[in-house]
Amino acid sequence: MGQTIRLGIAGLGTVGVGVIKIIRREAAMLTARTGAQITISAISARTRDKDRGVPLKDYAWEDDPVALATRDDVDVFVELMGGSDGPAKAATEAALNAGKDVVTANKAMLAVHGQALAELAESKGCVIRYEAAVAGGIPVIKSLIEGLAGNDITRVMGVMNGTCNYILTRMESAGLPYETVFEEANQLGYLEADPELDVGGIDAGHKLAILASAAFGTQVAFDAMELEGIGRLTIDDIRAAGDMGYRIKLLGVARMTGRGLEQRMSPCLVPATSPLGQLEGGTNMVVLEGNAVDQIVLRGPGAGEGPTASAVMADVCDIARGLRLPVFGQPANTLQAATPAKSVTPAAYYLRMTLLDKPGALAKIATVLGESGISINRMRQYDHDGENAPVLIVTHSTARDALDRALEAMEKTGVIVTAPVAIRIEEV
Ligand code: NAP
Ligand code: HSE
Repeated sequence: MGQTIRLGIAGLGTVGVGVIKIIRREAAMLTARTGAQITISAISARTRDKDRGVPLKDYAWEDDPVALATRDDVDVFVELMGGSDGPAKAATEAALNAGKDVVTANKAMLAVHGQALAELAESKGCVIRYEAAVAGGIPVIKSLIEGLAGNDITRVMGVMNGTCNYILTRMESAGLPYETVFEEANQLGYLEADPELDVGGIDAGHKLAILASAAFGTQVAFDAMELEGIGRLTIDDIRAAGDMGYRIKLLGVARMTGRGLEQRMSPCLVPATSPLGQLEGGTNMVVLEGNAVDQIVLRGPGAGEGPTASAVMADVCDIARGLRLPVFGQPANTLQAATPAKSVTPAAYYLRMTLLDKPGALAKIATVLGESGISINRMRQYDHDGENAPVLIVTHSTARDALDRALEAMEKTGVIVTAPVAIRIEEV
């Protein structure tokens, strides 16, 4: 028998309980694979006497996660509480200052404090592992940092919030409005405590910011991300996109350009037949592109007890095996400060607007687009009654600033009833 790796686990919710179940169920297998015995010394949560459906009496209890993180009988601090600051950050810092390795599923903390925590960890000779923080059960961090280490990464892209993908695909399959499906997701327990983290694109943005750092050797720069959630999308957008051969996804795209780092998390149209277009429900997909490998596509469950605990345990096993890598794949003090670049790569756009149904209205819109140098690819006007006409336009590839100028000019034509919605059509 080799060494023993003693864990201190703070957070006994969905993920924490999943981790404890795997350690109890698979002890022999984990030892066979790592050569180490993986044990739990102590645990912490807010409420001590809650029935969590798993026996906990063998483990010492700490009310204070900081005290847990610094215990002498803890080798690895496993942070599964969540939140960018507060006890998660305090206990993580305390663990690192005490020379302990950290495993966390906390994307919010890493997206905001990733650079400082990585510098602290590496100054103390510790590792921070965070596979579960991005795309749940998909081993995307390992793929990027280890599997693609020989590649200059050219683009990272993906659907990384299962709740948004559930809402969008359910709206489409059941023909239900956003508000109804949002409430369904709430009832099913899919939404974060603050739903805006999901539907506002923030949770997915956190994940993309972490991936971008590991992909491009830059300091995590969540604040610089172009961010838009799914709250403005309607069932009409989803239907119209479907009619034209597309599906709408909350898509994250990060790429390094000559001008700097582009990071964008926003609703996009993707071809319905593409792997991203076919993604259903809460499933995540991450696409990694490198100059040697070309493209790899990873797909799997982005959340839930089993998948997320699976990723946490992969990190624990790597530590038990003695694998010690810099947090973001290269030493933290060599990561460059990211120069944020607005996303200017031209793309085709889907435009939805409601016009006054009167002679010349459509001509005015077409003129504005033409004067902005934007060419129309397809246009459709749906059947309607009354005075207003819903109109859809798909443009040829155009720069976003030209489109923004056109959208502004449209508002002054006097024929717009509802402000145009513009959604990028992403090449995938
Ligand atoms: P959760 O079910 O809400 O559980 C959170 C746990 O943390 C609870 O046990 C809670 O204690 C404990 N906690 C909260 N504040 C605390 C404090 N101040 N002191 C001590 N304990 C405290 O959350 P989760 O879904 O397991 O998520 C945990 C982490 O994993 C988060 O960072 C989350 O973003 C990440 N993650 C989750 C998923 C997922 O599918 N759930 C997927 C990927 C990543 P009580 O139980 O006593 O209230
Ligand atoms: N709220 C997240 C999601 C949980 O829906 O994907 C996993 O990070």
